Amino acid sequence: MTRVRIDLFASLDGYTSAGQTPDHPMGEDWGRLTTAWAATRTFHERVFGDTSGAGTTGVDDSYAAAHFEGIGAEIMGAAMFGLHTFPDDPDWRGWWGDRPPFGTPVYVLTHTAPRPSIPMPGGTTFHFRNTAVADVLAEATEAAGGRDVRVGGGVGTARAFLRAGLVDHLHVMIAPVLLGRGARLWDDLSGLERTHKVTTEVAESGTVHVTFAR
Ligand SMILES: NC(=O)c1ccc[n+]([C@@H]2O[C@H](COP(=O)([O-])OP(=O)(O)OC[C@H]3O[C@@H](n4cnc5c(N)ncnc54)[C@H](OP(=O)(O)O)[C@@H]3O)[C@@H](O)[C@H]2O)c1
Repeated sequence: MTRVRIDLFASLDGYTSAGQTPDHPMGEDWGRLTTAWAATRTFHERVFGDTSGAGTTGVDDSYAAAHFEGIGAEIMGAAMFGLHTFPDDPDWRGWWGDRPPFGTPVYVLTHTAPRPSIPMPGGTTFHFRNTAVADVLAEATEAAGGRDVRVGGGVGTARAFLRAGLVDHLHVMIAPVLLGRGARLWDDLSGLERTHKVTTEVAESGTVHVTFAR
């Protein structure tokens, strides 16, 4: 059965990276949150295409490997795709270059004027939708063909799906850093531990992997 999955990064004080610029597509603090993730062997292989065996192989890597498995469609917000940073570019194709790493349909939520879908090498097709989260989820679930749907971000979109009770599996990687600024991850999510089973694992890097699953 299709599950709705989210993987997010947060700091010990509950912030996520915010404030995108052309030089910092995921916000200035993104690197501090994702150091351990980007060091994994899986990340080297799947994102850099590096098959030399470089990268860490411990707890962080096992979560990274799970992240890439079994996804049939992705949903993201306009900011994560880059429409807020490049609002005047009708040909913007996202931050991920000519061969985005998704390999699935990706539904981009946006209130801006309709754009045609963009098929990319490697199996990713970006579709643009102005619709309620439950409706885009229904379309993504159909497209996923029995595999899982990931809500990739950004934080606002992920939190909208969480508040709507639509998420089956939330995995948060809490990096051992204090940001003191950014978007708040946990606000308005009181009681999530009542509807989902919480598990926690600490990686060698000091990253705390917290999973809420139902
Ligand atoms: N911590 C993490 O793990 C993580 C992961 C990914 C991203 N991020 C961060 O998230 C930040 C971006 O997140 P964000 O919260 O600013 O924005 P976002 O969630 O990427 O996008 C929000 C925007 O999407 C559009 N949208 C959302 N729901 C919609 C709906 N139902 N119908 C139509 N349009 C809809 C709206 O844009 P319009 O009205 O302009 O169309 C809305 O302002 C970045 O700084 C990035 O670093 C963090």
